[in-house]
Amino acid sequence: MYKILTLNNISVKGLDCFPRDHYEISSEMSHPDAILVRSHNMRDMKIPDEVKAIGRAGAGVNNIPVEEMSERGVAVFNAPGANANAVKELVVAGMLIAARNLFGAYDYTRTLDTASPDLERHVEAGKKKFVGFELPGRVLGVIGLGAIGVQVANAARALGMHVIGYDPKITVHRAWQLSSDVQHAATVDELLSKADFLTFHVPLVEATRSMINADRLQRMKPGAVILNFARAGIVDDEAACVALDEGRLHAYVSDFPSPQLMAHPRVVVLPHLGASTREAEENCAVIVAEELREYLENGNVRNS
Ligand code: MLT
Repeated sequence: MYKILTLNNISVKGLDCFPRDHYEISSEMSHPDAILVRSHNMRDMKIPDEVKAIGRAGAGVNNIPVEEMSERGVAVFNAPGANANAVKELVVAGMLIAARNLFGAYDYTRTLDTASPDLERHVEAGKKKFVGFELPGRVLGVIGLGAIGVQVANAARALGMHVIGYDPKITVHRAWQLSSDVQHAATVDELLSKADFLTFHVPLVEATRSMINADRLQRMKPGAVILNFARAGIVDDEAACVALDEGRLHAYVSDFPSPQLMAHPRVVVLPHLGASTREAEENCAVIVAEELREYLENGNVRNS
């Protein structure tokens, strides 16, 4: 009998990949053979000695002490790309929310008294106050052209936007194959001055921590929008709020709540929803469940 400890809610479709006559699955157990996790921070926990493998039902592995696990001989599996469509759709939603001022418009409309004789005047005032702008012809800067970044780039092209991509890890030729019609920047700074929207699809590592800091915010195109569906820490939130206050940024869409962001009227803040669709949760869970089974039962490493 193999024992699987779950640290977050994992899609039932993934759990169903483990035949119950050979697997025990629980959110509370001692001596697990493997752990299934989403965003739970495993860096602060004592990982039991019996654990042979960890399956991350998602792309990022920042929450797992990967170096320590590899020293211990624990295999770590993830599912990069399995939630790319979900993230892409939320990036598009974020661009539209920002471009059409939906964040302020929604709050404004909720304050209206529909029984008031002044309703028409207030609706008219709202139409004037929340005039937006359209996406065709606007420039999207995409930092990180992996599975998610390429999907985001293609969606933006389909919406009539120009796309400039930056990824230090892939050659221009490969990037071109992945996503034609995308112009490639040689440096982050080259992209900053041109982008109306800036989105990141990179992990949080030393090179990306505070990648968008006060200095780089100064170099961004006036009125730009930042979207962070990657990881908290890539954007210096304090500096971004200053840029919003000074009118240099139009809006900031962040998937990572913090008191400062939640208090700012031009920040759209979400509870890490990028990968939270039924489809993405199922895809990720099924992929890592199959990887874990293959490893536990046959010793084969099959990372997607
Ligand atoms: C990811 O890295 O893919 C996401 O953080 C997934 C999740 O929300 O669990």
